[in-house]
Amino acid sequence: MSLKLIIKDALGIITIDREKSLNALNKQVLKEILKTLNKFIKSNDVKVIFITGSGDKAFIAGADIKEMSKLDPKSASNFVELGQELMNTIENSPKPVISIINGYAFGGGCEIALACHIRLAGDNAIFAQPEVKLGLIPGWGGTQRLPRIVGKGIANEMIISGKQIDAKEAYRVGLVNKVYKKETLMSEAIKFAKNILNNGPNAVSKSLSLINDSSFLKLEKGLKKEAKVFSSLFDNSETKEGLDAFLNKRKANF
Ligand code: CAA
Repeated sequence: MSLKLIIKDALGIITIDREKSLNALNKQVLKEILKTLNKFIKSNDVKVIFITGSGDKAFIAGADIKEMSKLDPKSASNFVELGQELMNTIENSPKPVISIINGYAFGGGCEIALACHIRLAGDNAIFAQPEVKLGLIPGWGGTQRLPRIVGKGIANEMIISGKQIDAKEAYRVGLVNKVYKKETLMSEAIKFAKNILNNGPNAVSKSLSLINDSSFLKLEKGLKKEAKVFSSLFDNSETKEGLDAFLNKRKANF
């Protein structure tokens, strides 16, 4: 197992544990993350999921270049499909998935972060899509998710130059939601997650799904879907509890 797993106070933490390779992702690790993620999504004990890397140098330094160097077009197709299945599972997770970026987030590492709903970075985080330096292109969603998050201009610049950007610049271009001192990254991330954990899990899940839809639905269709989901909530015990708690000046018990 190349992962360390913790479940505590409704938080499921997945730590990639390949510090010597800067947490680079080979096929086996991709499969392990995918399996764990699906387990956490089903588990009643987990409401928010963190993905992070072990050590203080790297979040994830990308796909495993040693393993990739042995690929041919057929095995590369399997490899890229597996990676994309993981990224899609993260993005479509009904529970929030947050990347805790504690160092290098290069290539596939940056792409995992991009697939997450929220990105929290340490002040030592460095981002790059350096695939072109290897004669490659991003294969786990970089060409599609990066422009949707930072806009085409910045995405073009990052992907065709392969240049590195630090946490401050990543925050400036909207690539990360927050930057914390690296020493307090995990404790701040846990505080951040508590704000989500206090809310109605069904409402959180429905919101994530609608926001995902906004990247491919026409506005009119998206609004119709939003109105339909909004109305359906009035038949839901979670919503009744939330409204009743407010009116009775008490904390909701979701
Ligand atoms: N795959 C495999 N091993 C990796 C790796 C990777 N992506 N990144 C780092 N490592 C290994 C190094 O080979 C080295 O191992 P050895 O000690 O056995 O030589 C170890 O991790 C430490 O790395 P460095 O000595 O290079 O550490 P550094 O501090 O000098 O540099 C770095 C850090 C700038 C991140 C540098 O390691 C680097 O540039 N790594 C490659 C990053 C990269 O190109 N990622 C994209 C991969 S392609 C991809 O991800 C495709 C996709 O979209 C799916």
